[in-house]
Amino acid sequence: MGKIVGAAIVSHHPGLMQCEEFRVYMGAGADSDLIAGYGRLRKKIEAVKPDVVMIFDSHWFTTGYHLVDAGERYSGTYISDEMPWYLHGVPYDYRGHPELALAIEAVSRERGGYNRAIRHPELGRHYPTINLVKQLRLETMDLPVVAVSSCQNCDWEQFLPSGEAIGEAIRRSDLRVLLLASGALSHKFNGIDWKPRNPRIYHESNVSRPENIESDKQAIALMKEGRHDLILERWDEDYRRKPWEAFGAHYLQMLGALGGTACRFKGETLSDYENARGTGNIHVWFETQPHLDTQDARGLSEYTPIVTA
Ligand SMILES: [Fe+2]
Repeated sequence: MGKIVGAAIVSHHPGLMQCEEFRVYMGAGADSDLIAGYGRLRKKIEAVKPDVVMIFDSHWFTTGYHLVDAGERYSGTYISDEMPWYLHGVPYDYRGHPELALAIEAVSRERGGYNRAIRHPELGRHYPTINLVKQLRLETMDLPVVAVSSCQNCDWEQFLPSGEAIGEAIRRSDLRVLLLASGALSHKFNGIDWKPRNPRIYHESNVSRPENIESDKQAIALMKEGRHDLILERWDEDYRRKPWEAFGAHYLQMLGALGGTACRFKGETLSDYENARGTGNIHVWFETQPHLDTQDARGLSEYTPIVTA
């Protein structure tokens, strides 16, 4: 039986792909803590030993389907068409895992869902995937990577069944899968003529609005308590309106795979909460394996979510 061996929400902003000297200069003498956070996340990944890394890509917008990338291998040199002066010349060469992508489509079709595998050699890359492949050194670990899109014409509730189909396909496989939700929380950009409030560009006071900082911090506190149910309860009134990056497609699909409203995996912050162009960024790790061990001891299915009062 397959397993989700760990999960995380992870920042991917392009400032993190700049050279160390520039990052330290922009940080008023100290680097972004998200860089050290990538190192902390690498240690988690090495410990849980996944067979496959699934990345919920919050820039890969699709219309009509939740797409799952089913290519066998991707290689090339990445340039961002959003910020080509800032993010360019990034070489990449990593494996995919077509069998897992096809298994997700099969489960989704059984359920009348909208997950589909796509396999096209010219399908473009996006930096929420590429930046994590590089920063987490997934190529060096020779780990296959499967990207999942952010469908832009569905309601936020429909990201959850997409994640559920993914979770079920993993359960039916014999794979150890790591889930990475690549994206920010509140995603309101600062204007083109904006002046930093704090000289350290990464400082949280440079996030777009005080109410967005407050909202992000509340979501982070709920993640730390494992109260994903309360995040979902607040979604329509709060997080949908900020809004989170990709309407929250990265977090919501990951959460669907982890049990949705019944999920109680507690978050461990692996970095400071930081600004990037007004957006709120942090790495948060969700340890899934002790949860699975507890269920084993109780004789329950490894994937039966534990519901607490
Ligand atoms: Fe982004």
